[in-house]
Amino acid sequence: MKKLRIGIVGCGFIANGKHLPGLAKLSDKVDIAAFCDIISERAEKAKAEYGSADSYACTDYMQLVNDESLDVIHVCTPNVTHCEITCAALEAGKHVMCEKPMAVTYAEAKKMVDTAKRVGKKLTIGYQNRFRDDAIYLRKMVDNGRLGDIYYAQANAMRRRCVPTWGVFTNKALQGGGPLIDLGTHALDLTLWYMGNYEPESVSGTVFYKMGDKTEGNLCGPWDPASYEVEDSAFGFIRMKNGATIYLSASWVLNIMEPREACTTLCGTEGGAEMRQKGEDYTCLINYADGGRLVDATVDFTQKIAFGPDGVEEKPGDREAAQWIDAILNDHDPVVLPEQAMVVTQILEAIYESGKTGKPVYF
Ligand SMILES: NC(=O)c1ccc[n+]([C@@H]2O[C@H](COP(=O)([O-])OP(=O)(O)OC[C@H]3O[C@@H](n4cnc5c(N)ncnc54)[C@H](O)[C@@H]3O)[C@@H](O)[C@H]2O)c1
Repeated sequence: MKKLRIGIVGCGFIANGKHLPGLAKLSDKVDIAAFCDIISERAEKAKAEYGSADSYACTDYMQLVNDESLDVIHVCTPNVTHCEITCAALEAGKHVMCEKPMAVTYAEAKKMVDTAKRVGKKLTIGYQNRFRDDAIYLRKMVDNGRLGDIYYAQANAMRRRCVPTWGVFTNKALQGGGPLIDLGTHALDLTLWYMGNYEPESVSGTVFYKMGDKTEGNLCGPWDPASYEVEDSAFGFIRMKNGATIYLSASWVLNIMEPREACTTLCGTEGGAEMRQKGEDYTCLINYADGGRLVDATVDFTQKIAFGPDGVEEKPGDREAAQWIDAILNDHDPVVLPEQAMVVTQILEAIYESGKTGKPVYF
């Protein structure tokens, strides 16, 4: 079978931390053939480490878009560029994996979905948390009806003191927002996915700008308060059309004891589940009633049992890459559908809007 030829736009943290290592493990199926970054050394470095024999590096993403030999483009650039680069690549006939958040606005996200549909190419978004061990386990529980009808959930994207200090995360113009669009997007994606509910009715939100100068104790080191332009926490109350409700909380800096990032709490008619996190370790707490008693079960994922064929532990990003490439080669849907990510974007935009106006947003 002909290998897929992949181009990477943006060779920074997430490209090197997730996409490139994940794709490199699929070297029997893909060649990473083109690398673009506006900082040429980054493109050159990634090419030297991961590039196929005929690969090249450049600084203008249109070179990749216009390269007819490429089948797939991964968009790993700041948030505001996602829509433009994704749509240009789709229009040129490429399949696209775009990093989260899909886009800054619903209008952009819809344009991406519409373009993919019109040109008949695949589009997915980088929500790798769906591929964590605990997330996969919980998916099976939900699919088996163990939680019943999920009608209340808490989407948690809460850091205590961990403002990202690399890249442009605190730049409003380039990212569109702070922890809500950056982390809240992961927690909300997980929550909607388990609820199987993509029909929001209204959103009420509050957005805080109180901690932008409180750099003490930041896990990623101090930042420059003068260039901190985004919110430090945001909260949303989301009512779905069928009455189900979600409480979303997102922060980079908030005085809390127990951070929970990219986690959800699900309450259903048959049982409940809570994703818990300590650093990179996740636990799942399950509760239900049985035999006339209340049962609490803890599912431990510290014991790693998911190994790849070469005996190396699979990371969520490796699984994400593998199912994406398989979706293209065998023509099926990827796990993350762009229509789902579009609703996440729509809700997050509405929380920002509601925070600004002090009024609910009705869809
Ligand atoms: N899935 C996750 O958990 C996760 C984690 C971190 C970042 N991200 C997302 O990945 C994206 C990038 O974040 P990052 O942490 O890698 O940032 P980064 O700053 O480390 O990397 C981004 C790179 O894109 C380059 N770039 C900017 N504009 C470009 C353009 N027009 N053309 C080509 N290159 C361009 C920059 O020079 C930089 O090297 C963001 O959308 C972010 O939300 C996702």
